[in-house]
Amino acid sequence: MTKPILFNAFDMMTPVHQSPGLWRHPESRVDEFTQLSFWTDLAKTLEDGGFSSLFLADILGVYDVYGGNADVTNRAGVQFPLLDPLVAVPAMAAATKTLGFGVTASVTYEKPYLLARTLTTLDHFTNGRVAWNIVTSYVDSAARNLGLKGQIPHDERYDRADEFMEVMYKLFEGSITPDALKADADANVFVDPNEVHDIGHEGKFFTVPGQALAVPGPQGTPLLFQAGASKRGQEFALDHAEAIFFSGPTPEILRSWVDKVRDGLEERGRARDAVKIFALATVIVDDTDEAAEARLADYRRYVDTESALSLFGGWTGIDLSGASPEDTLEYVSTEANQSALASFTTMAGDKPWTIRDLAEFVALGGRGPVITGSPATIVDEFERWMTEADIDGFNIAAAVRPADAERFTKYVSPELRRRGLLPEPVADATVREQLTGAGPRLAEDHTGARYRLGEGARV
Ligand SMILES: Cc1cc2nc3c(=O)[nH]c(=O)nc-3n(C[C@H](O)[C@H](O)[C@H](O)COP(=O)(O)O)c2cc1C
Repeated sequence: MTKPILFNAFDMMTPVHQSPGLWRHPESRVDEFTQLSFWTDLAKTLEDGGFSSLFLADILGVYDVYGGNADVTNRAGVQFPLLDPLVAVPAMAAATKTLGFGVTASVTYEKPYLLARTLTTLDHFTNGRVAWNIVTSYVDSAARNLGLKGQIPHDERYDRADEFMEVMYKLFEGSITPDALKADADANVFVDPNEVHDIGHEGKFFTVPGQALAVPGPQGTPLLFQAGASKRGQEFALDHAEAIFFSGPTPEILRSWVDKVRDGLEERGRARDAVKIFALATVIVDDTDEAAEARLADYRRYVDTESALSLFGGWTGIDLSGASPEDTLEYVSTEANQSALASFTTMAGDKPWTIRDLAEFVALGGRGPVITGSPATIVDEFERWMTEADIDGFNIAAAVRPADAERFTKYVSPELRRRGLLPEPVADATVREQLTGAGPRLAEDHTGARYRLGEGARV
């Protein structure tokens, strides 16, 4: 039987997410991004198109690396202005039935005690359709505006993140049993006190002695997404993630990451396919290959390469404002997003990337490939990546928003359905069930399940 392809839409509540300059395309309606209907309509489009989930990226600062300030970022709307993705989720959930919502929240700046309540609230309000994209954050200006002098060093962010997760599992799984809420008027018991436990967490980075603030939602712990691809980031993913997002320009570059993940899972006694792996891609589709190529050429007229370099600077902490377009890019270790830089340098194969190559590549589709063609060509290419990169699905970014998502649903989804490649959505299922095919709660072999309370358990 052919393996179904999972589709996740990758978006951000901002004018420019991955394709700088394309907001100027005549079909773009992204200037409506501050209206809730923009997001509820997008959610409906994605659900109709067979997407399993919508993943909303988020950062907590502005990209002020290029030229040493945020001028280019601000002028070009590069991940700025940026709205809070968590706030829109209940409205999008109310407009849909099966679509999952991956929200980004930072373990470097949030407090576990409060974030656990927020995510549990979303789990209740979406009937178990919320997933959490766990990020450690890489933007220096976020650190400075959130009370630090600069970023916590890269690997230490992941050490803190490990302990953050331990606290979250204790709050999600080990504080209040799922059936604690009795609402029994005759007995005058709303919540059974025997089912509520203090977590007593005292660690290197966090102290949380008390009980969780909310009774668990349908999933207990929301489905866990992660996208760190550095060595330390991958260790973290192997310990915690149920789904991983990678971005790489070619299937070969991606494959080297994917193999490491699958080997690492095996070393930890987990199945090689215990984690769903998604590859970033931007799709430009039309009736025929020729029409799609013409559309790509048209899109290229709107790219803004200078703001692409400001996006790159934000990811990597590297200021290319003084570089000549012919200079080549080299790897240096930074405290920012190490894998973003590695994908264009150490992992990029024989051909060194010039600054011009880089700006042109990033300006359309960010760090992922742009797949262009008729519906049949696009789906052939998906099948090639699935095999060559050994992935489970795609994280679909849009250049012209929301037109590209609408075109995907109109052109690509019917071809996927014709080939039997779209998973059938399951009514009333949680996002964990939709994506992994397993039950609503964390799998027994997941590290978080160790904190789960049994019947009448005490911690
Ligand atoms: C597809 C994808 C989406 C990401 N989304 C976010 C995001 O929304 N917010 C964020 O702070 N980091 C995001 N990241 C960055 C990672 O979570 C991670 O912080 C980054 O890759 C740096 O970690 P590393 O050095 O371990 O790779 C994303 C990365 C990828 C590949």
